[in-house]
Amino acid sequence: MNPLSLPRIQVPAHPQPSPLSGADKAALIERIKALLLEQRAVLVAHYYVDGDLQALAEATGGCVADSLEMARFGSAQQADTLVVCGVRFMGETAKILNPEKRVLMPDLAASCSLDDGCPADLFGGFCDQYPEHQVVVYANTSAAVKARADWMVTSSIALPVIRHLHQQGQKVLWAPDKHLGHYVQQLTGIDMVLWPGACVVHEEFKSVALERLRKLHPQAAVLVHPESPNEVVQQADVVGSTTQLIRAVHDLPNPEFIVATDEGIFWKMKQLAPDKQLIAAPTAGEGATCESCAHCPWMAMNDLEKLAHCLETGGPEIQVAEAIRARALVPIRRMLDFAASQG
Ligand code: 13P
Ligand code: SF4
Repeated sequence: MNPLSLPRIQVPAHPQPSPLSGADKAALIERIKALLLEQRAVLVAHYYVDGDLQALAEATGGCVADSLEMARFGSAQQADTLVVCGVRFMGETAKILNPEKRVLMPDLAASCSLDDGCPADLFGGFCDQYPEHQVVVYANTSAAVKARADWMVTSSIALPVIRHLHQQGQKVLWAPDKHLGHYVQQLTGIDMVLWPGACVVHEEFKSVALERLRKLHPQAAVLVHPESPNEVVQQADVVGSTTQLIRAVHDLPNPEFIVATDEGIFWKMKQLAPDKQLIAAPTAGEGATCESCAHCPWMAMNDLEKLAHCLETGGPEIQVAEAIRARALVPIRRMLDFAASQG
């Protein structure tokens, strides 16, 4: 197969869990709290998961964070078990960094279109064509793909790492997100080859509809995650990781924000800046009825019932073969050491 003819991504329908009554939900939350104590477990949640899970992580001494902070947080814990509420690559990163800990996830089917669109065997063949390049992979990849890389980066640290490599005169092979790759390539001018992957959620943001929305809200700052297409990124006041976008809502004086990333992030934005008006950036084109449906179907697989079930049964558990883990640790450590050196 041509190394650049990528596999077709199977995007699941959004799960439709049966709604819980207020009393049932409260009882479930209490049960999970008790199970976390009993199992010496801590929750590590991403900003895109359901608000109930984010609230529970915070209430029980866990964390709600972007993918860089999730990786750091897990390693700093005494707990025997990390329960990662997010997508599979986040659980794998936690396991790679903490092989002695048990890492559970509510649903192992929670994948990511970037991860699914970059199979390790095709990626290895692609890398073989560029032996002179530093291989930099985004966190949103499998352990096997990370095992082939020199560096791993997340969206919050991609730009400083690429600037650092550019200063060293390096050429970069970047995978898998072409939009983030294009963004850092444009800002640094580095010589870069791109794997042509994309996030099915962010790729849906529409630039013409965004222009129209900005005219209707002239006071709004536009916040864009760099997995979005270039024409959308070009309209941003702030481009950044989930944490950087949340910080902008808190720090900027604007009364309104147009937000181009997964809507799960609104929970934290509202918590930190309750007086600010948040407007979802448009994902629908001309004539479509869905004005904004930016919600990752894999992140949506995490819910309270599955969380309780995984704590009760001890599964599903993330496993990474030791030979792959040891190699995948190298690019992750390199990123964490670089982040620490930046202060
Ligand atoms: P962050 O690292 O910004 O949290 O992004 C992770 C992700 O999957 C965005 O779609
Ligand atoms: Fe992957 Fe996109 Fe979902 Fe993030 S939002 S986990 S990049 S599919």
